[in-house]
Amino acid sequence: PRRVLRGDVLDFTADPGFNPPGESPGVRFRPDHLVLIEGERIAAVQPADQPLTPDWQIAEQLDHRGRLIMPGFIDTHVHCPQLDVIASYGTELLDWLNTYTFPAERRYVDESVADEGAERFLEALWAHGTTSAVIFATVHKTSAEALFRRGSEARMRLVTGKVLMDRHAPDGLRDDVAQAERDCVDLIQRWHGKDRQSYAVTVRFAPTSTSEQLVMAGQLVQHHHGVYMQTHVAENRDEVRWVAELFPDARSYLDVYDRDGLIGPRAVLAHGIWLDDNDRAVLRDHGAQIAHSPSSNLFLGSGLFDWRLAEQSGVNVSLASDVGGGTSLSMLRNMADAYKIQAMQGVRLSAWKALHTATAGAAQHLGLHDEIGRVEPGLMADLAVWDTAVGPVALHRNGLARDLHERLFAWITLGDERNLAATVVAGQPRFVRP
Ligand code: GUN
Ligand code: FE
Repeated sequence: PRRVLRGDVLDFTADPGFNPPGESPGVRFRPDHLVLIEGERIAAVQPADQPLTPDWQIAEQLDHRGRLIMPGFIDTHVHCPQLDVIASYGTELLDWLNTYTFPAERRYVDESVADEGAERFLEALWAHGTTSAVIFATVHKTSAEALFRRGSEARMRLVTGKVLMDRHAPDGLRDDVAQAERDCVDLIQRWHGKDRQSYAVTVRFAPTSTSEQLVMAGQLVQHHHGVYMQTHVAENRDEVRWVAELFPDARSYLDVYDRDGLIGPRAVLAHGIWLDDNDRAVLRDHGAQIAHSPSSNLFLGSGLFDWRLAEQSGVNVSLASDVGGGTSLSMLRNMADAYKIQAMQGVRLSAWKALHTATAGAAQHLGLHDEIGRVEPGLMADLAVWDTAVGPVALHRNGLARDLHERLFAWITLGDERNLAATVVAGQPRFVRP
């Protein structure tokens, strides 16, 4: 099947960095263009006034004139079962896990809960313009299985895995090393590399795994080609202190993972607020990435991530919602929160830098730049169409914006899902604004 999307195409060919907006290289804006989609992939991008060949003239025409066509957003750290604990009152990380999160995750032992949860979760991502995600399931094999099944049915690029957790968690949420290894190997063999699904060895965080389990996880990463590793690191000061008590021999929190071979180019570490220079050098040398989760860091009171320092240290940074620590699946909301976190530290985050990080930047850091992240012939047609002039943006100041950057910055800062017109995954419309 062929489809043609018409609108203003925006994507990025290079990292704009922390440059002032007017000096940002790599921004590619193509007003009034056609995106030709053949099956799952982008076939061509051409000016709208260039005539279509007859076989494209009979294709389905989706007219989004005046709207923005962008690569779908990539959320590099989010918890499927935690949609149900969003906006839980009154706690920091460790209390929040025990009070709200673990009870919610325990329900996923039930296959029907896991399946319904996965379906609802992927539909929620689409309704926020997100077309790819790096996802925490629960400790239960069935929860990862459900995500893989739903993801493969929709041909959606997912990275996920069963959570490893064999201590400091309540009954019904712990595995053991041998069974966990069998479950991971089985999931890897059946899903990794199939239908746009990738396996991530998923260590919840250092406190909930024994040393034996961390060694096993490191071996999984080393022995299975192309698998990812996802975990949390240095999010909260009490957590950092606890890890130092639990692992007195480790040089730092990050070192707990590094010494067992868990840190590599496919490692995605959420937060990384309280790392030191040595840790940043380790991440840089391995090409690992930090999934910066702005809304979560603010909501749980975890701290202010120093993005510019990470960048100057050569560390890859992507953007993430971290729902349910984060309070919104919207990558726009998370960009707006990221701007404020940097503003508190005297740094200006441009719309270009934010939008690049949530699209081409994340794709690059995940090693998926030949598949997702840009509007480019040959890449998968994972796209979102945004109406940047409706809802709260229109109400306030959109009319005053002096240039494209100011217009899009206002959209990021004021906008939300009401601005989303359509989401396309692998060439298929998965969300269309009613
Ligand atoms: N650290 C360990 N588990 C979690 C989690 O579920 N969310 C967040 N934000 N941090 C964690
Ligand atoms: Fe998280």
